[in-house]
Amino acid sequence: MSKIVIVYHSGYGHTKKVAEAVLAGTLETGAEARLLPVGEIDDAGWEELATADAIIFGAPTYMGGPSADFKKFADASSKPWFGQTWKDKIAAGFTNSATMNGDKFSTIQYFVTLAMQHSMIWAGTGMMPSNTKAATRNDLNYVGGFTGLLTQSPADASAEEAPPAGDLETARMFGARVAGVTARWLAGAPR
Ligand SMILES: Cc1cc2nc3c(=O)[nH]c(=O)nc-3n(C[C@H](O)[C@H](O)[C@H](O)COP(=O)(O)O)c2cc1C
Repeated sequence: MSKIVIVYHSGYGHTKKVAEAVLAGTLETGAEARLLPVGEIDDAGWEELATADAIIFGAPTYMGGPSADFKKFADASSKPWFGQTWKDKIAAGFTNSATMNGDKFSTIQYFVTLAMQHSMIWAGTGMMPSNTKAATRNDLNYVGGFTGLLTQSPADASAEEAPPAGDLETARMFGARVAGVTARWLAGAPR
């Protein structure tokens, strides 16, 4: 059974909702998975990350990049970086922000760079976007992420109201996708 850790930050609860939907998708595949909020990482948390087969990074986009709390976690990961203990784990990422674009991709790009510094294997969404005239806001992958999962919560919407159901369903499918990629990777190259 593959082990997946979703390490994330959420200032106001919106990204947490996405993380929970991603978790649901991973669990549906039979993977062993858990959420790890960046503010709660102790020695046991770092050990969980060290023994994971896949790590999914999640953060809101703040000022065109990952939130400072997430970056603090990323900087602290320089310790496993020294030993390259995350090498060959599957990596993936998601971000939520208020604007449909809002420079979300800078956050995803940062996650890719972090994963590459750790010599991880990046998995994208593997999902086609809903981008036709007929597409509506609650369709799958309406925000159109390929490199990572993108979700959007209007600036005046509470975490109870947003992100919308379609984005959360996209998040669930993304979780299942990363779990599937991890299982295939492990089947071909058991650690
Ligand atoms: C300090 C700060 C900076 C923000 N910068 C951006 C931004 O660059 N782009 C954007 O689309 N939204 C931006 N937002 C909006 C948040 O991304 C949005 O409210 C998001 O849903 C917050 O997620 P959270 O509840 O998980 O913290 C910003 C919000 C804050 C508080």
